[in-house]
Amino acid sequence: MTELELINAAKEAAENAYAPYSHFTVGAALLCKDGKVYTGCNIENASYSPTNCAERTAFFKAVSEGERDFSAIAVVGGKNCNFTDYCSPCGVCRQVMAEFCSESFRVILGKEGKDFRVITLRNLLPDSFSI
Ligand code: THU
Repeated sequence: MTELELINAAKEAAENAYAPYSHFTVGAALLCKDGKVYTGCNIENASYSPTNCAERTAFFKAVSEGERDFSAIAVVGGKNCNFTDYCSPCGVCRQVMAEFCSESFRVILGKEGKDFRVITLRNLLPDSFSI
């Protein structure tokens, strides 16, 4: 699975985003070490705080299916599926990644066209909390 294939899966997932309040649609595609891909989108709520980010949707789908080993996640986001800029994961999603992934876990940021950036979890969330 190439970076661009994973980004395309994230773009497809963003089509399912439920974002009637922000209109900011996010898609994620989580690659497991066994090669399976779990996608996710953001799901908003009228009460705002129950909103779930695309990255966490993908992680929770995967973990609830018994997956524990992950190698990378692709993320795209933008107003109404216009992915003009990179969309970097929020702090809560970074903490969820830190729960299940090593510091070498790769976060692939996609946007329109074929450009992408790759950041490790080590760089996204240094000195992360754990018990
Ligand atoms: N959002 C995500 O899905 N992932 C992130 O990492 C950042 C924010 C969503 C939450 C909300 O539905 C919308 O983007 C605007 O904040």
